[in-house]
Amino acid sequence: MNQEEITALFDQQAANYDKQWQKMSAIHNGMYFFIESLVAKLPANAKIICVGAGTGKEIQFLAKRFPGWTFTVVEPSGAMLNICRDALAKQGMDSRCYFHEGYLNTLHSTDRHDVATCFNVSHFIVDIAKRTAFFAEIADTLKPSGLLIGSDLSFDIHAQNYQSALALWFSVMSDADISAENIEKMKNAYANDVAILPQHEILSLIERAGFDSATPFYQAGLIQAYFAKRK
Ligand SMILES: C[S@@+](CC[C@H](N)C(=O)[O-])C[C@H]1O[C@@H](n2cnc3c(N)ncnc32)[C@H](O)[C@@H]1O
Repeated sequence: MNQEEITALFDQQAANYDKQWQKMSAIHNGMYFFIESLVAKLPANAKIICVGAGTGKEIQFLAKRFPGWTFTVVEPSGAMLNICRDALAKQGMDSRCYFHEGYLNTLHSTDRHDVATCFNVSHFIVDIAKRTAFFAEIADTLKPSGLLIGSDLSFDIHAQNYQSALALWFSVMSDADISAENIEKMKNAYANDVAILPQHEILSLIERAGFDSATPFYQAGLIQAYFAKRK
């Protein structure tokens, strides 16, 4: 999918997005549990950039726990960003955010951040060189030694057990009330529009993009979370 197609896809999904994924929130909550320890020693006035923030779940989590932190919110889908902004406004957190509707390359800011988050975004970039360049762009938004925390779909799709893992993953989604129609669309997307890479390949492309010690810290189903430090 090109950038216009991705934006259109999420514009179309936005209204129903949080409801659709509500019952899968245990996965994110488990990941946030680890992240809280990972970021606990950062300065009280840390600056965070959230790339592909979607409806803003990670921002709500971090903003609540770290009341002095401020956020650069990068999201190309206007519809997703509106929901994100409204949800943060309801919780009185929007004044701590700068909202950018667009991709990272249109964010003309020289601000450097302590942390970049990028959850479930980079797997939409199928071309390895472009995906590496995307992480390099994220590195540019960070202070030296700044922390990247992210997650992506990950598995060795050529391994014998991939089909079993995939079957369980879709069965979990179905039990979480994701409609059969949407599951069918996802199966299609996984085969054609999303790059599901083994853990070591994701970590290695992050390191080639200008990060040190990319480290996996959490896995649930096909979601793999990792962190790395900017060189
Ligand atoms: C699957 S959603 C994840 C949203 C949120 N991070 C979460 O985990 O709940 C992916 C989001 O990333 C955005 N996105 C896709 N490609 C992107 C890119 N190259 N740069 C920034 N955002 C992107 C989409 O518009 C969408 O809102």
